[in-house]
Amino acid sequence: MIAIIDFGSQYTQLIARRVRELGVYSEILPPWVDMDELSNKGYRGIILSGGPMSVYDEGAPIVDRKIFDLGLPILGICYGMQLTVHLFGGRVDRADRREYGMAEFEVIKRDSLFDGIPDRFVVWMSHSDSVVELPDQFEVLGRTNNTPYGAIKHRELPIFGLQFHPEVSHTEYGMEILSNFVFKIAKAERNWSMERFIEETVKSIRERVGDEKVLLALSGGVDSSVVALLIHKAIGDNLIPIFVDNGLLRKNEAEKVLTTFKNLGVKVHFVDASKRFLSALKGITDPEEKRRIIGHLFIEVFEEEAKKFGKIKFLAQGTLYPDVIESVSVCGPSSRIKSHHNVGGLPEDMEFELIEPLRNLFKDEVRKIGKLLGLPDGIIKRHPFPGPGLAVRVIGEVTEDKLNILREADSIVVEEIERAGWYDKVWQAFAVLLPVRTVGVMGDERTYEYVVAVRVVESVDGMTADWVRLPYDVLARISSRIVNEVKGVNRVVYDISTKPPSTIEWE
Ligand code: XMP
Repeated sequence: MIAIIDFGSQYTQLIARRVRELGVYSEILPPWVDMDELSNKGYRGIILSGGPMSVYDEGAPIVDRKIFDLGLPILGICYGMQLTVHLFGGRVDRADRREYGMAEFEVIKRDSLFDGIPDRFVVWMSHSDSVVELPDQFEVLGRTNNTPYGAIKHRELPIFGLQFHPEVSHTEYGMEILSNFVFKIAKAERNWSMERFIEETVKSIRERVGDEKVLLALSGGVDSSVVALLIHKAIGDNLIPIFVDNGLLRKNEAEKVLTTFKNLGVKVHFVDASKRFLSALKGITDPEEKRRIIGHLFIEVFEEEAKKFGKIKFLAQGTLYPDVIESVSVCGPSSRIKSHHNVGGLPEDMEFELIEPLRNLFKDEVRKIGKLLGLPDGIIKRHPFPGPGLAVRVIGEVTEDKLNILREADSIVVEEIERAGWYDKVWQAFAVLLPVRTVGVMGDERTYEYVVAVRVVESVDGMTADWVRLPYDVLARISSRIVNEVKGVNRVVYDISTKPPSTIEWE
């Protein structure tokens, strides 16, 4: 294993994923991690991440100086390197201006960190502060035009620092540098693979569950679907996946999910609760109120269904690694702006033991497992879909009629985006139905109908997003199909707002 100490960089998770792509398990730990834990848990090396602060800032995250005495190889990246220099008594200069973007890096002293890599290559820089004085124990391995200490190494110990970001794809040979650190310097073994993960997880679920039953709220998204398949592989029909149709799903969604699992041999317990949800939403226009009602009702319905199966000991959830990392970077403001009611957000008073087989995995790993377990691409590559479903995309009061209009418009958006080859390149593509009617003309007749907004965004994690510059002809086809094929809509607009200040969903 490789430990990654997180100082709050937006790239910390990327470092962890890169190490895993190399076939080595990695874990993200907070700067306050206990040094005994670091030294006893079996880590082969430590990577100190970047971070947004200056080492001199009040409250800047600092790691125990003893980390350098553990005898483990250490690679400090950006802030991680500055902190290393600072803790060894060197000097870091505060800069007012950021150096951001590409730079040419030149190796000036050969070291195993740069094995198999040319003398000059392009690196990605993103920093304000710089090292200006190296501690005596360190030497320079490489530089760029603006950064004389671009890469450094302790003269005797396996402690390295890089001012650039090897984990970012813009850095040429970044993977090779990480690989050199992980295999040549830290001497880690390549033994992390999804095939092996499946094998071990299935075995441990089987042992833990025995003859008991496991309940699962299946949403049809990647995470709960993969959980279903993993557990089903372990215990067969003792898994009870419950799929609730809340009436707020997309066109044909429930059928698709049910057929998929039928084909995979998994028995799904289907509940059509659409009428209950729609009547609970009657007259409600406030977005938070909608979310609250849907969240509570989901729990109510799920509990009622679960009771039908008698006493069940276990509840499975699709929690992923990014949700459980204890770190300085998880408290971004945007994560708390909307209340998120998901399947999985079940009440604490239900007395279950939790099974969370994806707890240590990143999304791309979950997708790989899905693929290995035979989940079709339609689910594996599916865009994120909010728990409250189309209720937050019908702006204002949710009615059956409006949901039907939105379903048709939305399926055209997705179809055309897929046909043009954009589906896998974007984070989300969907339609929103506005509670506004505008005047139009069709044939010789005046019309007075709804407006559909089309939202297509790119994003890395949903926390920030940019609207996608779709080709005009794709937009044109979407618009013309919607107004021609969807009764009740005579105008289509394209949402060109970024997040922030907007959000991805409209409610
Ligand atoms: P916003 O609208 O907050 O959305 O910019 C960010 C990402 O989260 C998704 N989203 C949700 N996902 N339950 C979810 O599982 C929810 O209640 C929910 N609300 C928003 C949204 O689709 C986007 O990908």
